[in-house]
Amino acid sequence: MLKPNLHYSELKDSYLFYNISQKVKAYLDANPDKKVLRLGIGDVSLPLCDEVIKALHEAVDDQSKKETFHGYMPECGAPFYREAVASYYKKRGVCLQSDEVFVSSGASDELGDILDLFDKSNSALVIEPAYPAYVDANVMAGRKIIHLPSGEENGFLPEPDENTDADILYICSPNNPTGAVFDRVKLQKWVDYADKTGALILFDAAYEAFIEDEDIPHSIYELEGAETCAIEICSLSKTAGFTGTRLGYTVIPKKLERNGMNLNAMWVRNRTTKTNGVSYVIQKGGAAVFSDEGQRQIKENIKKYKQNAEILMKALDELGIWYCGGKNAPYIWMKCPKGMGSWEFFDYLLHEIQVVGTPGEGFGKCGEGYFRLSSFGSLYDTEEAAKRMVKLLK
Ligand code: MLT
Repeated sequence: MLKPNLHYSELKDSYLFYNISQKVKAYLDANPDKKVLRLGIGDVSLPLCDEVIKALHEAVDDQSKKETFHGYMPECGAPFYREAVASYYKKRGVCLQSDEVFVSSGASDELGDILDLFDKSNSALVIEPAYPAYVDANVMAGRKIIHLPSGEENGFLPEPDENTDADILYICSPNNPTGAVFDRVKLQKWVDYADKTGALILFDAAYEAFIEDEDIPHSIYELEGAETCAIEICSLSKTAGFTGTRLGYTVIPKKLERNGMNLNAMWVRNRTTKTNGVSYVIQKGGAAVFSDEGQRQIKENIKKYKQNAEILMKALDELGIWYCGGKNAPYIWMKCPKGMGSWEFFDYLLHEIQVVGTPGEGFGKCGEGYFRLSSFGSLYDTEEAAKRMVKLLK
C-alpha cells in the first residue's frame, strides 16, 4: 500500500494566506452587504505596465506565424530573458554570465523546488518572522528547521553568533514581513559565516526593487564572497506586477560547489528533467521589464505603492502605534494596539471596520503581537482603511 509523505501531518492545518482567505470568505458569506478592504496578502493591484503589455502582444503575434512561432523553450530560460536579467545586474556592478541566470515561474515555486539540490539531512535556518513557505517547504521535505527569532531589539536583523549551526540559511531582504533591510556590514557577516562553514544562503530578493536607500544591497552578489555561498531567488511579482502572470529568476553562480559537485550544473540537470521552462510569451513580457522604458514604467508603479505605504504610516503615526518597514519595502510591520494578540487584532479589524491585514503570528511565534499591512492595495482601499483605523483606534 502506498505510504504518503508523513511529514505533511507535521504542518499547520492550512497555509497562512489560504487560512486568511477562508476567514474572509466566511465573514463575507455571513455579511454579504459588507465590502472588505484588502491589505493582507501582498498581491498587486496595478495592471502590468504598457511596455510589458506591448511585448506580450507582440509575442502572441509571433506565435501566430510559422516564421516566428516558438515551440518548447530552453528549460533553463530563453537566452534573451537570461541576458536581460544579467544586464540588469551589470548596471549595479554585479557581473553574471547569462547561464548563471535561470528562468522560474516565480519565487514561491522556486523556493520549494530548489530544495531538490540539498540532502534531507541538512538543517535549514529560518530567521523569523519569515515568509511561511520557507518553513512549510522544509517540513514537507522532513528537514530539521532551526527557528532564529528576531525582534525590535535587533531591528529584526539577527546576526550569526558562536551558536549558529545550520546548512541552509534563508535570508530575505528587504524582509517580508517586517520590511527590515540588511545593510552591507550585517549581510557580510552571514556571507562570511556561510563561506567559513560551507553553509549555503538562499537569498530571497523578491522586494529588491523597493529599496530606495543608496547603501542597501539589492543583490547578495554585491558582497564579497557571495558567489561561493549563495543562491539568489527573485520574482517579477512585486517588481513588475507579475503575481498573476508568473515569472521570476534564480541566480546560481558557477563558482558554487559543495563536495566537488557544481550547483549550477546540478540545477541544469534538474530543470532539464523536471520542467519545460516558461512560455515564450511570458518571457518576452519579462524581458521588457529590464529595458530602459520598462524600468521607468515599473518605477512609476512602485512609487504609487510607496504612496500607499506613506498613507498607512501617517495613520499609525497619528495613533502613536509603533511600526517598522514601509520605506525600502512594501510592508508595514506594526505592533497590535492595546496588547492584543495578532489573530485577535485580525478579527477585530475584520469585524469592526472590514480591514484585512496579516497576523504576525502567521510568520512565526515571535511575530505574535504584531500585524502586517501591505501597501499593494488600491489607493481607495488604502485611504479608506487608514481612515477607519484612525477612527477605531484613536
Ligand atoms: C505575501 O503576502 O507575503 C506574499 O504576497 C505571498 C507570496 O508572495 O506568495
